[in-house]
Amino acid sequence: MMGAARKASRNLVRDYGEVEHLQVSKKGPADFVSSADLKTEKALRAELKKARPGFGFLLEEGGEIAGDDTSHRWIIDPIDGTTNFLHGIPNFCISIALERDGELIAGVVYQPLGDEMFHAEKGAGAFLNERRLRVSARRKLEDTLIATGIPFIGRPGHETFLKELAAVMPQVAGIRRFGSAALDLAYVAAGRCDGYWETGIKPWDIAAGIVLVKEAGGYVTDFQGGSKMLDNGEILAANDHLHQPLLKLLRTARG
Ligand code: IPD
Repeated sequence: MMGAARKASRNLVRDYGEVEHLQVSKKGPADFVSSADLKTEKALRAELKKARPGFGFLLEEGGEIAGDDTSHRWIIDPIDGTTNFLHGIPNFCISIALERDGELIAGVVYQPLGDEMFHAEKGAGAFLNERRLRVSARRKLEDTLIATGIPFIGRPGHETFLKELAAVMPQVAGIRRFGSAALDLAYVAAGRCDGYWETGIKPWDIAAGIVLVKEAGGYVTDFQGGSKMLDNGEILAANDHLHQPLLKLLRTARG
């Protein structure tokens, strides 16, 4: 997975340097796909297929592709943070997760410009390059830095998001909207951020990051406190002291 991410990132970095020449089309309002997304996805698929020919895929651009081995599938976002990428903002990454029998068992989030390889395997811990990761130990909400995602134009949930923001903002030290859900989760795993929440999020944006946070000792749930994040697109990740208080704030805000 790491080798595939590193290899596919070479063209991506080149494209980032010439972003104004890329072909860009719109999948919906504020939902862009560039030739770099498509090229990167193709490269990742080819590399992973070479390594594990039978595994299926769930791809941001190419959708579901069944494999002969029905118990394994790769879940891939070739560029998480496409809007950042297209605006020349370096906060974007490649996100690859591996699912076995419906359970996420490995994740890689690679930020090529900073050469930050976040990776985790179930039961083996989470790492940034070679360094072991641990979620933050902060206990008081007032000391925390929380990441979130704001629904794009054309997506539902603007009013609910404003209610959530109004509930969380006065309780915490700061809120950030970085523009890449996969990196938001990687930052929670690394203890850079103390928590992250978003709704209306897609499986390829969060699958790898979920493995990272869990392996770094954090909690990841949907807003019911369950584990259907990939199905219902709701996610809250935090350390074990902060998860419950944040969940309570979000649930109260949503009514
Ligand atoms: C987006 C990013 C963003 C999140 C959006 C996602 P994309 O993914 O992860 O942070 O707020 O909900 O759609 O479109 O750049 O792959």
